[in-house]
Amino acid sequence: MKEKSLHITNAILFDEDMPLQGDREVRDITVRDNIITVTIAVSRENTIADRVSMEDAIRDGIQAEFPEAEVRIISLAIDGEDEPVGNCEHGGHSGASKELPPKKAIPGVKHVWLVSSCKGGVGKSTVALNTALALKAAGRSVALLDLDLYGPSIPSLVGTDLPPIVVGNLIVPPEIHGISVLSIGFMTESTQPLMWRGPMLSGVINQLLWEVDWSGHDDLVIDMPPGTGDTYLSILQSIEVDAAVLVTTPSELALSDVRRGVGVFEPYNVPIAGVVENMATYNWEGREAVLKLLDSLKIDSSSKESLERIKKILETTRSIRIFGNHTKEMCDDVKLPLITSIPLDIALQNDNDSGTPYMLNPKKAEIQKAFTDIASFLIKRAND
Ligand SMILES: Nc1ncnc2c1ncn2[C@@H]1O[C@H](COP(=O)(O)OP(=O)(O)OP(=O)(O)O)[C@@H](O)[C@H]1O
Ligand SMILES: [Mg+2]
Repeated sequence: MKEKSLHITNAILFDEDMPLQGDREVRDITVRDNIITVTIAVSRENTIADRVSMEDAIRDGIQAEFPEAEVRIISLAIDGEDEPVGNCEHGGHSGASKELPPKKAIPGVKHVWLVSSCKGGVGKSTVALNTALALKAAGRSVALLDLDLYGPSIPSLVGTDLPPIVVGNLIVPPEIHGISVLSIGFMTESTQPLMWRGPMLSGVINQLLWEVDWSGHDDLVIDMPPGTGDTYLSILQSIEVDAAVLVTTPSELALSDVRRGVGVFEPYNVPIAGVVENMATYNWEGREAVLKLLDSLKIDSSSKESLERIKKILETTRSIRIFGNHTKEMCDDVKLPLITSIPLDIALQNDNDSGTPYMLNPKKAEIQKAFTDIASFLIKRAND
């Protein structure tokens, strides 16, 4: 299957009608269960549209030969003869070799967890921060790294932008709410747009990973940016990661992104711990007050039946699935555990946006439980 798919991929890649320019080559083909994942390096001169049409052409070609298989294509952008943009020089890579560089462990950190999703705005940063705090509450020493270099949101979620200090040659992350936190947002003006060119981006990632004193932590939780861009390549191919947690909302669109997200980790042998479903259900808090009010009304017997009907209707609003209910099915489909479901909570939104992390609000024990579930899941995985 592997040889045949290599043959097909090469034939498509070097077809004269392909809209690609410059260097291109097959970097990797993996076949696991029923899934064929092909990784291709293409010149950065190509537009995203060209890359997408190449991915589609290769996917269709392989699919035609292996109709039963699930085909995933990943294209890495390279600069001429260089390695994929965003590659970490700290990975010990020789430069000329076409092999992926060996991964390195972050010194002094026992476990590294990525919180990620292909889609933006599904709650990665919320989950990363509150999971870090839940791990801390479980008695662990925890650090949180915000790697969303274009839109760092951890400073506003923790409610502070304390600048890190430098001791010797190393940056020391500030301790906030009992965990060590580092974000590029601590080092830049919040009003300044963050635009990085490829080499700059990889330089900043290198700095945040290797020029920081991360030592003494049981867990480093990394809040990843949305998508599958250069930050992912830098991280997945250069550091040793225990596992990734995929965050999604139950909407069909978000779930199809999870399916795509699974294929991002596979070629780099980064395991996926499971899926966290965010904004899963909505609990209307006014419901209890309305029920109480109805009970206090003096109603004559002719209206009793209507009252009971109203109460029944209110009962169905206890937990509404606004965005759908497909996550479990999708998890079974991609063979990943559903770690937990976090309700949609207006208080959560207000607390986040006012800089009080949810785990620090004792009034919301029910939702805190979801973050504690994630922490327990990761601790169990770390101990297994
Ligand atoms: N369960 C929830 N209930 C209500 N609001 C939520 C919930 N989870 C996250 N939010 C809100 O949704 C918005 C997006 O959340 P967050 O920033 O964590 O997502 P993200 O995936 O990190 O986004 P980005 O892709 O932009 O980095 C924030 O305003 C946050 O407060
Ligand atoms: Mg975020």
